[in-house]
Amino acid sequence: MRAPRRILIVGSGGREHALAWRLARDPEPAEVLVAPGSEGLGLRFRRLEAGVADPAVLVRACCEREVDLVVVGPEAALAGGLADDLEAAGIAVFGPSRSAARLESSKWFAKELMREAGIPTARAEVFDDPAAARAALARFEAPWVIKADGLAGGKGVRVTAERTEAEAFVAACLGDRRFGPAGGRVLIEEFLDGEEASVMAVCDGRRFVLLPPARDYKRALDADRGGNTGGMGAYAPTPAVTPAIESAVAGRIVAPTLVAMERRGTPFRGILYCGLMLGGSGARVVEFNVRFGDPETEVVVPLVTGSLASLLLGAARGELDPAAIGRGPGAAVAVTLVDAGYPDAPAQGGRITGLDALEREDGIMVFHAATAAAEGGWRVAGGRAAHVVAVAADLGAARARAYAAVGRLGGAGWRCRSDIAAGPAAGAAIAAGRGAA
Ligand code: AMP
Ligand code: GLY
Repeated sequence: MRAPRRILIVGSGGREHALAWRLARDPEPAEVLVAPGSEGLGLRFRRLEAGVADPAVLVRACCEREVDLVVVGPEAALAGGLADDLEAAGIAVFGPSRSAARLESSKWFAKELMREAGIPTARAEVFDDPAAARAALARFEAPWVIKADGLAGGKGVRVTAERTEAEAFVAACLGDRRFGPAGGRVLIEEFLDGEEASVMAVCDGRRFVLLPPARDYKRALDADRGGNTGGMGAYAPTPAVTPAIESAVAGRIVAPTLVAMERRGTPFRGILYCGLMLGGSGARVVEFNVRFGDPETEVVVPLVTGSLASLLLGAARGELDPAAIGRGPGAAVAVTLVDAGYPDAPAQGGRITGLDALEREDGIMVFHAATAAAEGGWRVAGGRAAHVVAVAADLGAARARAYAAVGRLGGAGWRCRSDIAAGPAAGAAIAAGRGAA
């Protein structure tokens, strides 16, 4: 597969920054454009004015600039049909059609498909009537897992041991319509116990290749306390996903999903992100996403060798070549810098100093998520501001390097977790994480 000459990445977060960074390091790198990107991305990559809100403008920009591959970051763009629009204009796109994106945009669609295909996942029931949903809570044991069916920006899941909180969440979705139509149906689901892991498969409709397995941290505070967030850090590869588990994920989860999607007439091209719970009975699916994970991508792509662009273009065209990439040695750890009040009450107005100096260090990358240039540093311009990623020979060394780098930052109004990768890296010399108040 010929490597593309010009690639457009759609999106603006840390995930998109990591993809752009990695694609620029391919053996014969393409020119990488971003739309809309961010100020941080704009330091190294050309930004297009076009955003995801107006697909027609994006399609036109791709034609004018002779873009030969588009990689779509955010799920909302895929669920809105951006890949269909690009494909209709003859532009190769890595990302599923709107119909195939239902694996993420409807949790019940994904559950039904998994049930039909015999894919291991939690038992679930779906409701649109608040009284029926409340009554059903009695059939499930605590802790209760309740999910809005549609896309809710990562806020549509509640896991709680308090029956009153479970009932209140059901009422907020079905009664108050907190998530609009996305919460018009809720799933009540069996609680799965175990260790979480994220495995991403690059798929061309039939064939696929697995990227190194990762672990992310969703809770806001150390020791998995606090509310759910978009992700507070990650590491890869996770030793929890052994070679045996990986081959089970390939054979019992990814392969049957692709078969079932093709059978429905909606072949899946793009990233099939498997959010997994690893327990006594093996890997079970907690959720599917149809795009690169964030912040998993920030730790996975630095470990990939070969031509990522050729792999993605091959997948987009239905001609995936698994040999286009390999897995390098070593490990990567990402520590996410967030607004001090994130996720409940982002204060906005924090400032981070020293980020640009970190980027010049060996084995350290800074991927911007929501920052704005400010005098002497970067302003925190959203919940998650930036990810500091370190690569080293093993997880312990990568963790130590990441936290040492974070320790050289200054400013105020931001914080980070101090226990990213602490479990698997136990025993390594660890520099304590810090947060600036
Ligand atoms: P989701 O958006 O479906 O990935 O859910 C967000 C988070 O809620 C997951 O990463 C898990 O930590 C937790 N979660 C979701 N479903 C379950 C489940 N069935 N059992 C236990 N925890 C779950
Ligand atoms: N890190 C979880 C996600 O990307 O959904």
